[in-house]
Amino acid sequence: MTMKRLHNFSAGPGALPVSVLEEARQEMLVYGEAGASIMEISHRSPEYTAVTDSARQQLATLLGLGDEWHILFLQGGASLQFYQSALNFLQRNETADYVNTGSWSTKAIAEARRVGNVHVAASSADDNFSHIPPVSSWQHSSSPAYIHITSNNTIFGTAFQEDPVSVPAPVICDASSDFLSRPVELAPYSMIYAGAQKNIGPAGVTVVLIRKSFLERVQGDLPTMLDYRVHAEKLFNTPPVFAVYMVEKVLRWIAGKGGLLGMQAHNEAKADLLYSRIDKTDFYRGTAEKGSRSKMNVTFRLPSEDLESTFVSEARKHGLLALKGHRSVGGIRASIYNACELASVEALVDFMTEFERKNG
Ligand SMILES: Cc1ncc(COP(=O)(O)O)c(C=O)c1O
Repeated sequence: MTMKRLHNFSAGPGALPVSVLEEARQEMLVYGEAGASIMEISHRSPEYTAVTDSARQQLATLLGLGDEWHILFLQGGASLQFYQSALNFLQRNETADYVNTGSWSTKAIAEARRVGNVHVAASSADDNFSHIPPVSSWQHSSSPAYIHITSNNTIFGTAFQEDPVSVPAPVICDASSDFLSRPVELAPYSMIYAGAQKNIGPAGVTVVLIRKSFLERVQGDLPTMLDYRVHAEKLFNTPPVFAVYMVEKVLRWIAGKGGLLGMQAHNEAKADLLYSRIDKTDFYRGTAEKGSRSKMNVTFRLPSEDLESTFVSEARKHGLLALKGHRSVGGIRASIYNACELASVEALVDFMTEFERKNG
Protein backbone atom coordinates (compact mmCIF):
# COMPACT_ATOMS: atom_id res chain seq x y z
CA MET A 1 0.00 0.00 0.00
CA THR A 2 1.33 3.48 -0.83
CA MET A 3 0.78 5.91 2.04
CA LYS A 4 -0.05 9.47 1.10
CA ARG A 5 2.46 12.22 1.87
CA LEU A 6 0.76 14.97 3.90
CA HIS A 7 1.42 18.71 3.96
CA ASN A 8 4.40 18.81 6.29
CA PHE A 9 5.00 21.77 8.62
CA SER A 10 7.56 20.03 10.82
CA ALA A 11 10.06 22.31 12.55
CA GLY A 12 12.86 19.82 12.04
CA PRO A 13 13.71 17.42 10.70
CA GLY A 14 11.60 19.13 8.10
CA ALA A 15 10.15 18.34 4.69
CA LEU A 16 12.52 17.37 1.88
CA PRO A 17 11.87 17.95 -1.83
CA VAL A 18 9.98 14.97 -3.26
CA SER A 19 12.20 14.88 -6.34
CA VAL A 20 15.25 14.50 -4.07
CA LEU A 21 13.64 11.64 -2.14
CA GLU A 22 12.72 9.97 -5.42
CA GLU A 23 16.26 10.30 -6.76
CA ALA A 24 17.62 8.79 -3.55
CA ARG A 25 15.09 5.97 -3.80
CA GLN A 26 16.29 5.24 -7.34
CA GLU A 27 19.86 5.01 -6.08
CA MET A 28 19.10 3.29 -2.79
CA LEU A 29 20.47 -0.12 -3.76
CA VAL A 30 23.17 0.80 -6.22
CA TYR A 31 24.85 4.19 -6.57
CA GLY A 32 26.14 4.82 -10.08
CA GLU A 33 28.81 2.30 -11.00
CA ALA A 34 29.72 1.66 -7.36
CA GLY A 35 28.03 -1.76 -7.17
CA ALA A 36 26.64 -0.86 -3.75
CA SER A 37 24.71 2.01 -2.19
CA ILE A 38 26.45 5.23 -1.17
CA MET A 39 26.09 4.09 2.45
CA GLU A 40 28.09 0.95 1.86
CA ILE A 41 31.25 2.25 0.23
CA SER A 42 34.35 3.95 1.58
CA HIS A 43 34.17 7.61 2.45
CA ARG A 44 37.50 7.85 0.61
CA SER A 45 36.14 6.23 -2.58
CA PRO A 46 36.07 8.27 -5.81
CA GLU A 47 32.25 8.11 -5.73
CA TYR A 48 31.86 9.67 -2.29
CA THR A 49 34.70 12.14 -2.92
CA ALA A 50 32.79 13.36 -5.99
CA VAL A 51 29.62 13.77 -3.89
CA THR A 52 31.31 15.80 -1.18
CA ASP A 53 33.27 17.90 -3.72
CA SER A 54 30.04 18.63 -5.54
CA ALA A 55 28.28 19.60 -2.29
CA ARG A 56 31.10 22.04 -1.52
CA GLN A 57 31.00 23.40 -5.04
CA GLN A 58 27.22 23.88 -4.90
CA LEU A 59 27.46 25.67 -1.55
CA ALA A 60 30.23 27.91 -2.85
CA THR A 61 28.22 28.79 -5.95
CA LEU A 62 24.93 29.37 -4.12
CA LEU A 63 26.45 31.57 -1.42
CA GLY A 64 29.28 33.10 -3.43
CA LEU A 65 31.89 31.61 -1.09
CA GLY A 66 35.37 32.25 -2.38
CA ASP A 67 38.65 30.60 -1.52
CA GLU A 68 38.78 32.50 1.74
CA TRP A 69 36.23 30.14 3.29
CA HIS A 70 36.50 26.63 4.71
CA ILE A 71 33.40 24.49 4.13
CA LEU A 72 33.13 21.70 6.71
CA PHE A 73 30.60 18.91 7.10
CA LEU A 74 30.62 18.03 10.80
CA GLN A 75 28.60 15.92 13.20
CA GLY A 76 27.06 16.52 16.61
CA GLY A 77 24.36 18.90 15.37
CA ALA A 78 24.24 22.64 15.77
CA SER A 79 24.18 21.90 19.52
CA LEU A 80 27.80 20.76 19.41
CA GLN A 81 28.69 23.96 17.56
CA PHE A 82 27.54 25.92 20.62
CA TYR A 83 30.48 24.45 22.52
CA GLN A 84 32.91 23.84 19.67
CA SER A 85 32.80 27.42 18.37
CA ALA A 86 33.57 28.73 21.86
CA LEU A 87 36.29 26.13 22.42
CA ASN A 88 38.07 27.22 19.26
CA PHE A 89 37.57 30.96 19.41
CA LEU A 90 37.31 31.90 23.09
CA GLN A 91 40.17 31.76 25.59
CA ARG A 92 39.40 31.23 29.28
CA ASN A 93 40.27 34.83 30.19
CA GLU A 94 38.41 36.35 27.24
CA THR A 95 34.80 37.45 26.80
CA ALA A 96 32.45 36.68 23.92
CA ASP A 97 29.30 38.73 23.33
CA TYR A 98 26.04 36.89 22.73
CA VAL A 99 22.70 38.20 21.53
CA ASN A 100 20.04 36.19 23.29
CA THR A 101 16.99 35.84 21.05
CA GLY A 102 15.56 32.52 22.19
CA SER A 103 16.04 29.01 23.52
CA TRP A 104 18.84 28.14 21.10
CA SER A 105 20.79 31.31 21.87
CA THR A 106 20.32 30.56 25.57
CA LYS A 107 21.79 27.11 25.04
CA ALA A 108 24.69 28.55 23.04
CA ILE A 109 25.40 30.94 25.93
CA ALA A 110 25.37 28.10 28.48
CA GLU A 111 27.91 26.11 26.45
CA ALA A 112 30.22 29.09 25.87
CA ARG A 113 30.25 29.75 29.63
CA ARG A 114 31.98 26.38 30.06
CA VAL A 115 34.89 27.81 28.06
CA GLY A 116 35.25 31.49 28.95
CA ASN A 117 33.29 34.61 29.87
CA VAL A 118 30.03 35.50 28.20
CA HIS A 119 28.53 38.96 28.05
CA VAL A 120 24.93 39.20 26.86
CA ALA A 121 25.02 42.23 24.56
CA ALA A 122 21.25 42.22 24.02
CA SER A 123 18.34 40.02 24.94
CA SER A 124 14.62 39.81 24.24
CA ALA A 125 13.99 37.39 27.12
CA ASP A 126 11.88 40.02 28.92
CA ASP A 127 9.15 39.90 26.30
CA ASN A 128 9.31 36.14 25.80
CA PHE A 129 11.63 36.54 22.82
CA SER A 130 8.99 38.13 20.62
CA HIS A 131 11.40 40.51 18.92
CA ILE A 132 15.01 40.86 17.73
CA PRO A 133 16.90 43.66 19.52
CA PRO A 134 18.14 46.13 16.86
CA VAL A 135 21.88 45.94 16.18
CA SER A 136 22.18 49.63 17.15
CA SER A 137 20.93 48.83 20.68
CA TRP A 138 23.55 46.16 21.50
CA GLN A 139 25.82 46.93 24.45
CA HIS A 140 29.17 45.29 23.87
CA SER A 141 31.87 44.29 26.31
CA SER A 142 35.17 46.13 26.04
CA SER A 143 36.99 43.70 23.76
CA PRO A 144 34.84 40.74 22.69
CA ALA A 145 36.54 37.72 21.09
CA TYR A 146 33.49 37.40 18.84
CA ILE A 147 29.78 38.12 18.70
CA HIS A 148 27.31 35.25 18.43
CA ILE A 149 23.83 35.55 16.97
CA THR A 150 20.99 33.19 16.00
CA SER A 151 19.65 34.43 12.67
CA ASN A 152 16.29 32.65 12.91
CA ASN A 153 14.63 31.59 16.13
CA THR A 154 12.91 28.34 15.33
CA ILE A 155 10.84 28.19 18.51
CA PHE A 156 9.75 31.82 18.86
CA GLY A 157 9.24 32.54 15.15
CA THR A 158 11.49 35.59 14.94
CA ALA A 159 14.35 36.38 12.57
CA PHE A 160 16.97 39.04 12.04
CA GLN A 161 15.90 41.50 9.35
CA GLU A 162 19.30 43.22 9.29
CA ASP A 163 22.89 42.01 9.22
CA PRO A 164 25.17 42.79 12.17
CA VAL A 165 27.32 45.45 10.55
CA SER A 166 29.61 47.92 12.32
CA VAL A 167 30.01 45.65 15.33
CA PRO A 168 33.34 45.48 17.22
CA ALA A 169 34.26 41.79 16.66
CA PRO A 170 33.91 38.90 14.21
CA VAL A 171 30.39 37.50 14.02
CA ILE A 172 29.47 33.83 14.42
CA CYS A 173 25.96 33.01 13.26
CA ASP A 174 23.80 30.00 14.04
CA ALA A 175 21.77 29.87 10.83
CA SER A 176 20.28 26.42 11.44
CA SER A 177 16.72 27.33 10.65
CA ASP A 178 17.10 29.79 7.79
CA PHE A 179 20.21 28.55 6.01
CA LEU A 180 19.99 28.97 2.22
CA SER A 181 16.45 30.32 2.46
CA ARG A 182 17.53 33.66 0.92
CA PRO A 183 20.67 35.39 -0.35
CA VAL A 184 23.14 36.33 2.40
CA GLU A 185 25.57 39.21 2.52
CA LEU A 186 28.66 37.34 3.73
CA ALA A 187 30.85 40.33 4.59
CA PRO A 188 29.60 40.73 8.19
CA TYR A 189 30.20 37.07 9.09
CA SER A 190 33.33 35.14 10.08
CA MET A 191 31.59 31.84 10.74
CA ILE A 192 28.14 30.46 9.89
CA TYR A 193 26.86 27.07 11.02
CA ALA A 194 23.65 25.20 10.37
CA GLY A 195 22.25 21.77 11.09
CA ALA A 196 21.03 20.41 7.76
CA GLN A 197 17.71 19.03 8.89
CA LYS A 198 15.52 22.06 8.28
CA ASN A 199 16.38 23.67 4.96
CA ILE A 200 19.01 21.56 3.23
CA GLY A 201 18.80 17.88 4.06
CA PRO A 202 18.27 15.19 6.66
CA ALA A 203 19.62 15.21 10.22
CA GLY A 204 23.18 14.03 10.73
CA VAL A 205 25.36 16.71 9.22
CA THR A 206 26.09 20.29 10.25
CA VAL A 207 27.45 22.66 7.65
CA VAL A 208 30.15 24.89 9.16
CA LEU A 209 31.57 27.78 7.14
CA ILE A 210 34.65 29.48 8.58
CA ARG A 211 36.76 32.25 7.11
CA LYS A 212 40.36 31.12 6.78
CA SER A 213 41.58 34.35 8.42
CA PHE A 214 39.32 33.68 11.42
CA LEU A 215 40.51 30.10 11.75
CA GLU A 216 44.04 31.39 12.16
CA ARG A 217 43.02 32.69 15.58
CA VAL A 218 42.60 29.18 16.97
CA GLN A 219 45.36 28.38 19.42
CA GLY A 220 46.70 25.52 21.47
CA ASP A 221 46.02 21.85 21.72
CA LEU A 222 42.32 21.03 21.42
CA PRO A 223 40.62 17.62 21.42
CA THR A 224 41.17 16.39 17.87
CA MET A 225 37.54 15.98 16.87
CA LEU A 226 36.63 19.41 18.27
CA ASP A 227 39.48 21.24 16.55
CA TYR A 228 38.27 23.00 13.41
CA ARG A 229 41.86 23.10 12.12
CA VAL A 230 41.87 19.31 11.89
CA HIS A 231 38.70 19.18 9.79
CA ALA A 232 39.81 22.10 7.63
CA GLU A 233 43.06 20.33 6.82
CA LYS A 234 41.77 16.91 5.84
CA LEU A 235 38.98 14.36 5.96
CA PHE A 236 39.91 13.21 9.43
CA ASN A 237 37.27 10.59 10.17
CA THR A 238 34.21 8.94 8.63
CA PRO A 239 31.77 11.73 7.76
CA PRO A 240 27.96 11.28 7.79
CA VAL A 241 28.02 10.05 4.21
CA PHE A 242 24.32 9.56 3.64
CA ALA A 243 23.43 12.98 5.07
CA VAL A 244 26.06 14.72 2.92
CA TYR A 245 24.84 12.78 -0.12
CA MET A 246 21.28 14.02 0.51
CA VAL A 247 22.48 17.57 1.12
CA GLU A 248 24.28 17.52 -2.22
CA LYS A 249 20.99 16.61 -3.93
CA VAL A 250 19.06 19.33 -2.08
CA LEU A 251 21.69 21.90 -3.05
CA ARG A 252 21.28 20.95 -6.71
CA TRP A 253 17.51 21.20 -6.24
CA ILE A 254 17.93 24.74 -4.83
CA ALA A 255 20.16 25.68 -7.77
CA GLY A 256 17.49 24.37 -10.15
CA LYS A 257 14.87 26.54 -8.44
CA GLY A 258 16.77 29.73 -9.20
CA GLY A 259 19.30 29.55 -6.37
CA LEU A 260 18.94 31.71 -3.29
CA LEU A 261 16.96 34.41 -5.10
CA GLY A 262 14.54 31.72 -6.22
CA MET A 263 14.29 30.38 -2.66
CA GLN A 264 13.71 33.87 -1.33
CA ALA A 265 10.81 34.53 -3.72
CA HIS A 266 9.30 31.12 -2.95
CA ASN A 267 9.68 31.57 0.82
CA GLU A 268 8.35 35.13 0.82
CA ALA A 269 5.28 34.12 -1.16
CA LYS A 270 4.45 31.45 1.45
CA ALA A 271 5.16 33.68 4.44
CA ASP A 272 3.16 36.60 3.00
CA LEU A 273 0.18 34.36 2.37
CA LEU A 274 0.23 32.91 5.87
CA TYR A 275 0.86 36.15 7.76
CA SER A 276 -1.85 37.97 5.82
CA ARG A 277 -4.30 35.24 6.81
CA ILE A 278 -3.23 35.57 10.46
CA ASP A 279 -3.58 39.36 10.37
CA LYS A 280 -6.93 39.31 8.58
CA THR A 281 -9.01 38.87 11.75
CA ASP A 282 -8.47 38.83 15.52
CA PHE A 283 -9.11 35.09 15.76
CA TYR A 284 -5.47 34.29 14.98
CA ARG A 285 -2.76 36.29 16.74
CA GLY A 286 0.87 36.19 15.63
CA THR A 287 3.26 35.88 18.58
CA ALA A 288 6.29 37.60 17.00
CA GLU A 289 6.41 41.37 16.63
CA LYS A 290 5.69 42.32 13.02
CA GLY A 291 9.14 43.80 12.41
CA SER A 292 10.84 40.58 13.62
CA ARG A 293 8.74 37.91 11.95
CA SER A 294 10.43 34.77 10.66
CA LYS A 295 9.72 33.58 7.13
CA MET A 296 10.58 30.03 8.20
CA ASN A 297 8.66 29.42 11.45
CA VAL A 298 5.29 31.12 11.68
CA THR A 299 3.97 31.11 15.25
CA PHE A 300 0.47 32.11 16.28
CA ARG A 301 -2.16 31.65 18.96
CA LEU A 302 -5.90 31.06 18.91
CA PRO A 303 -8.38 32.48 21.44
CA SER A 304 -7.94 29.51 23.84
CA GLU A 305 -5.67 26.54 24.46
CA ASP A 306 -8.63 24.22 23.91
CA LEU A 307 -9.18 25.68 20.45
CA GLU A 308 -5.45 25.33 19.76
CA SER A 309 -5.45 21.63 20.51
CA THR A 310 -8.63 21.13 18.46
CA PHE A 311 -6.97 23.08 15.62
CA VAL A 312 -3.93 20.78 15.65
CA SER A 313 -5.96 17.57 15.71
CA GLU A 314 -8.48 18.75 13.09
CA ALA A 315 -5.64 19.95 10.87
CA ARG A 316 -4.07 16.50 11.03
CA LYS A 317 -7.36 15.01 9.79
CA HIS A 318 -7.18 17.44 6.87
CA GLY A 319 -3.70 16.24 5.95
CA LEU A 320 -1.80 19.08 7.65
CA LEU A 321 1.04 17.68 9.70
CA ALA A 322 3.06 18.92 12.70
CA LEU A 323 1.42 22.26 13.52
CA LYS A 324 1.71 22.11 17.31
CA GLY A 325 3.83 24.94 18.71
CA HIS A 326 6.95 24.16 20.72
CA ARG A 327 6.12 23.18 24.28
CA SER A 328 7.88 26.26 25.70
CA VAL A 329 5.63 28.63 23.73
CA GLY A 330 2.39 26.76 23.07
CA GLY A 331 0.01 27.71 20.29
CA ILE A 332 0.62 26.84 16.67
CA ARG A 333 3.82 26.81 14.67
CA ALA A 334 3.91 26.26 10.91
CA SER A 335 7.45 25.68 9.69
CA ILE A 336 7.60 26.55 6.02
CA TYR A 337 11.17 25.76 5.07
CA ASN A 338 12.56 25.64 1.52
CA ALA A 339 10.96 22.29 0.62
CA CYS A 340 7.50 23.23 1.90
CA GLU A 341 5.42 23.92 -1.18
CA LEU A 342 3.15 26.90 -1.76
CA ALA A 343 0.28 24.41 -2.16
CA SER A 344 0.85 23.29 1.44
CA VAL A 345 0.52 26.84 2.74
CA GLU A 346 -2.56 27.38 0.57
CA ALA A 347 -4.10 24.25 2.10
CA LEU A 348 -3.26 25.52 5.59
CA VAL A 349 -4.75 28.96 4.91
CA ASP A 350 -7.96 27.38 3.56
CA PHE A 351 -8.16 25.20 6.67
CA MET A 352 -7.61 28.25 8.93
CA THR A 353 -10.45 30.12 7.27
CA GLU A 354 -12.78 27.16 7.59
CA PHE A 355 -11.75 26.55 11.22
CA GLU A 356 -12.44 30.18 12.09
CA ARG A 357 -15.83 30.06 10.37
CA LYS A 358 -16.82 27.08 12.53
CA ASN A 359 -15.25 28.21 15.80
CA GLY A 360 -14.89 31.99 15.58
C1 LIG B 1 18.37 27.74 15.57
C2 LIG B 1 18.74 26.38 16.05
N1 LIG B 1 19.96 26.18 16.57
C3 LIG B 1 20.36 24.98 17.03
C4 LIG B 1 19.51 23.89 16.99
C5 LIG B 1 19.99 22.57 17.50
O1 LIG B 1 20.26 21.78 16.43
P1 LIG B 1 20.64 20.23 16.60
O2 LIG B 1 19.42 19.54 17.05
O3 LIG B 1 21.07 19.87 15.21
O4 LIG B 1 21.75 20.13 17.58
C6 LIG B 1 18.24 24.04 16.44
C7 LIG B 1 17.31 22.87 16.37
O5 LIG B 1 16.15 22.97 16.15
C8 LIG B 1 17.85 25.31 15.97
O6 LIG B 1 16.63 25.50 15.47
